[in-house]
Parts: sequence; structure tokens; C-alpha cells
Amino acid sequence: MGTTLGTTTGVTVGVIGGGQLARMMIPAAVNLGIDIRVLAEQPGMSAELAASAVGDYHDLDTVAAFADTVDVITFDHEHVPQEILRALVARGVAVHPGPDALLYAQDKLLMRQRLTELGLPVPDWARVENPDELDAFLAEHGGRAVVKTARGGYDGKGVRVVAHKHEADDWFQALAEDANGGALLVEELVDFRRELAQVVARRPSGDIRSWPVVETVQRDGVCAEVVAPAPHSSGRLAEVAEQIARRVAEGIGVTGVLAVELFETTDDRLLINELAMRPHNSGHWSIDGSVTSQFEQHLRAVLDLPLGDTATREPWSIMVNVLGGPAQGSMSDRYAGAFAAHPSVKVHNYNKAPRPGRKIGHVTAVGADLDEVAYQARATAAFFQD
Ligand SMILES: Nc1ncnc2c1ncn2[C@@H]1O[C@H](COP(=O)(O)OP(=O)(O)OP(=O)(O)O)[C@@H](O)[C@H]1O
Ligand SMILES: [Mg+2]
Repeated sequence: MGTTLGTTTGVTVGVIGGGQLARMMIPAAVNLGIDIRVLAEQPGMSAELAASAVGDYHDLDTVAAFADTVDVITFDHEHVPQEILRALVARGVAVHPGPDALLYAQDKLLMRQRLTELGLPVPDWARVENPDELDAFLAEHGGRAVVKTARGGYDGKGVRVVAHKHEADDWFQALAEDANGGALLVEELVDFRRELAQVVARRPSGDIRSWPVVETVQRDGVCAEVVAPAPHSSGRLAEVAEQIARRVAEGIGVTGVLAVELFETTDDRLLINELAMRPHNSGHWSIDGSVTSQFEQHLRAVLDLPLGDTATREPWSIMVNVLGGPAQGSMSDRYAGAFAAHPSVKVHNYNKAPRPGRKIGHVTAVGADLDEVAYQARATAAFFQD
């Protein structure tokens, strides 16, 4: 008889989804001696090293069998269908964030509606079912607007600036063919100075902790860079951003990490763009730049443990995404050059195959001099993409 390996004690967290967010929860779990298991969509995913099951998260039997092996279920993404989430809750599984909260990260129309009910600041918006309704919105908003699919968008897919009522016809057509019917979200084209994100974490028992508000820079609809804290964020701006995120977390009953994407308008208002209820790209800097990373905090929060200190370790942290990656080979082929040139920069490799535009890793630099930190982070990321 062999020896039994892997004797862990205590709690087990189950993560649905095998992407890089699940992957980055693993070291945090290991450090705390928390057993972490992942239900991956397929073999060979980013979080493979903790994958204990591979299967379809749309299938209740698969998800329930996985849930039976853990103490709490959490997520790498927000796509698990409501019916599955509700069936888990009915079985007595602890699900964080719960379906009632997650709904507002799954459907942008419901999200806009709920935030409006809560009195929170959002762009002007409307639900539109056909080109004529879109036309009416365009007429009231200077002839240009942003149309979004309510569900399934990511990295700017499902977001389109339009100036004519027929520019969303393909999406209206797809809705007409969809048995569930539905509508599109249309919003004013916000005149923003920059985009910000406020990340917080909330325990089921209510306690909330927040990191400083950060600036996010998007290129081609994808987050390219994050600066923490957001430069030139006066005490007042930081306070308002934090208040908004707290009100969202409490109003919607979010548990775990919540990221609130914000627009800072040219007339100095903060408007909510969208919500993510899981660790978020705008919080990756916290692994190297904060006393408690968003991944550790998410685990603490979903286990309803006291939350960690969110103070910054250095005045500035800059995270740069590795988008696409090397034209040939993998990120690690470039380690020798990158590590020799930038020994203080932390490199995070998601072990994903390079593909144009795909997020395959990120780098973070921290320090006291913003220009130097930005140079270090950008120059390091440049080693990994052609
Ligand atoms: N109402 C708006 N006015 C101006 N720009 C907008 C508006 N809505 C979205 N954008 C731009 O499009 C980007 C993507 O929009 P959004 O965040 O809704 O899409 P997504 O694909 O769900 O997001 P993600 O890239 O975060 O997964 C925003 O970061 C912003 O740059
Ligand atoms: Mg977004």
C-alpha cells in the first residue's frame, strides 16, 4: 500500500472556472493552508494545477458533484447560469457571491436598472428592443451612443459606439432569434477624462475593506495598464469612489471581491460603468503592491473570515498586462532578458498559449517614483510581446 498524500485540514474552497483568476487564488490558498479545488472547463487551462474536475458549468450534475467536495463555491467568471446557482443554494451549498448579487454582474440591463433604483450615478441609459427605439435615444443624446449586449460581453466584445439606428441590426436580429427574447442596453457616450476602478471586498457578515481607487487604461476595449492609486486623485475623489463601491456592495449584497468600473467625466463626476463580482484585472497590482492581495482577500471574504489590511506597500504600483504575447514560443522563453534587465519587477505568467490580444500574463512594478515605476513595468512587459 502506498502512502496517502495531500493531507490538508480545515476548509476547502471550490472555484468554478479555470482561468487566470482561479489560478491566482492558488498561491493565496496555499499560503493559508486552505484547500482549493477548481472546476475547469477543459484540460490544460490556466488554473490546471488546482483543477480537481473538468466539466461543463452549465450542467447541474457536474456542478453539484463538484460542490459536494468543497465548503464554499466561488467563481473565476460570472457565467454560471442562475438556475444552476439557485439549485446549489437549494442543496445547502454556500455560494459566494450568491445568485441574487451575481445577477447584476451577468446582465448589464438589470445592473443599470438596479443601480438606478439604488440612486447610484450611472450614464443615461435605456432598454431598446428595436432600431426605432435606438433612434429615439440617439435623437435625445446628440446623435451618438454606446450600444451593449446585456449578456456575455467581455474585453469590449458586445460594446459598440453607434451614430445610426441600423448599426446594431445584427444584435437586434440575434435577439429576435433567441427564444428568451430580450433587449439591448443603450447608453450616452460618456465624455470621460479617464477610467477608474474601485475594488472592495465584503464578508457575508457585512464587513467591507477597500483598496485605493486606481486608474485603468484601456486599449482596443481591453485593459492595458493599471496605476494604483489613481494619480491626481484628491482625497474627495477617493472618498466618493469608495462610497459608491460600498453602496453597491451593500445595496446588492455582494460577497467576496467586487470591482466597480468608473468613468471620471470631464465635468468631474464619477459614473459607474460596470460591475465584476470576483477578483478583477484592476486589482492584480495588489499581489505585489498591497499588504493583502485581492486573491487572498477574496478567499477570506467567501470564508467569512476577518479581512486583511489593504494598505499599499509602496506609494505607487503599476500593472501592465501582457497582451498577445510573443509571436513565437512562450513568455518564459524571454525570462533571461527580462529578469536581467528588470530584477525588481514581478512577472506573472498565466501559462496560456499566446494569441493576438489575449491576456497571457501581467507584470507589476512598485516604488516611490511614479515615472520610474511606469518605465520599469512597461519596459518589462515589452519583453513579452512582439
Ligand atoms: N457609455 C460609455 N461611454 C463611453 N465609453 C464607454 C461607455 N461604455 C463603455 N465604454 C468603453 O468601452 C469599454 C468596454 O465597456 P464595458 O466595460 O461595458 O465592456 P466589457 O466588454 O463588458 O468590459 P471588460 O473589458 O471590462 O470585460 C469601457 O472600458 C470604455 O472604455
Ligand atoms: Mg469593462
